[in-house]
Amino acid sequence: EKGNYRHFMQKEIFEQPTVVAQTLRSYLRPGEQRVALPQIDFDISAIDRITIVACGTSYYAGMVAKYWFEQFARVPVDIDYASEFRYREPVLPDGGLALFISQSGETADTLAALRHCRKQGQVIAAVVNVPTSSMAREADLLLPTHAGPEIGVASTKAFTCQLAVLAALAAHFAVKKGLLNHREEAIIVDHLLEAPACLNAALDHDEEIADMAHLIAPARDVLYLGRGADFPLALEGALKLKEISYIHAEGYASGEMKHGPIALIDDKVPVIVLAPSGPLFEKTVSNMQEVQARGGKVVLISDKAGIEQAGEGCMAVIEMPKVHPLIAPLVYAVPVQLLAYHVAVAKGTDVDQPRNLAKSVTVE
Ligand code: M6R
Repeated sequence: EKGNYRHFMQKEIFEQPTVVAQTLRSYLRPGEQRVALPQIDFDISAIDRITIVACGTSYYAGMVAKYWFEQFARVPVDIDYASEFRYREPVLPDGGLALFISQSGETADTLAALRHCRKQGQVIAAVVNVPTSSMAREADLLLPTHAGPEIGVASTKAFTCQLAVLAALAAHFAVKKGLLNHREEAIIVDHLLEAPACLNAALDHDEEIADMAHLIAPARDVLYLGRGADFPLALEGALKLKEISYIHAEGYASGEMKHGPIALIDDKVPVIVLAPSGPLFEKTVSNMQEVQARGGKVVLISDKAGIEQAGEGCMAVIEMPKVHPLIAPLVYAVPVQLLAYHVAVAKGTDVDQPRNLAKSVTVE
């Protein structure tokens, strides 16, 4: 039931602090400050390549995980859309780990890719929200998300729970590969445990984002920019907006702007920039200035330091708490979800049942 909420999507956005905490509980041992995965009967340190396969929002969670696995655990990752995977005849390493990500556990292309990998002798891991689903049953290593039933067609809480599991998994790989000592593992565990509070802080901006919706609702096109692990968030933000408000939106890696999409910029195209402060912030600021010099209207989503440095001249800013890079994608998911939600409400579309879409895509 929707309770006091107007839509399931809104309810599910607000459930995120609770369900992310619930999910993290089964992957972390807070007392010992350790990451603890479900029983695994294969040697993680022997895995030297991971293949990730998923669709839609789950694919974007996989893209974020690629950054994490490579950065923290130094394990190379290949990632494919499930609908492309089998047909490109991928070369799979002997005994490699294939990781499938799916809210429903029933998406036809993802399930077919899983079965393909099984035939190719891969170890099958699945991050799945529905425990009784086909993927959950067929995986060697089931990594459940505890988001609870997700009713809104636009995925929200399943996404942040997927990220929570994938962050813990990447940290676990890093420990097993000898790249994190106990003290460093403890620091990561503490940061992950802060995620629910940071999600709450992000949700505090709900009203402010609702007030901003009228700036975006009239647009025909919207661009989202992000860098590093926040680049997939730009893609996710664009997908959310398209799905429920029917506004054309595209996500780009910030540095790619000048290689084409900047030609679209004028004062009618809002540009949403996802940019936590950090080593790459300066570069994103110059990408923003390129947009502003062409009359583009920027909405900057950053932390206090980022907004102090680059907020001037923006059409609007949304201030996120300052967070560790490992949890930034979880926290920055909230403002992009809220923005899509409020724009859709402003446009009067059917938020929970957008046209042409099904919750679970069971045809290839
Ligand atoms: O159930 P799955 O996670 O496998 O679903 C994958 C996509 O169909 C899904 O994420 C879709 O893109 C959502 N509607 C996005 O909000």
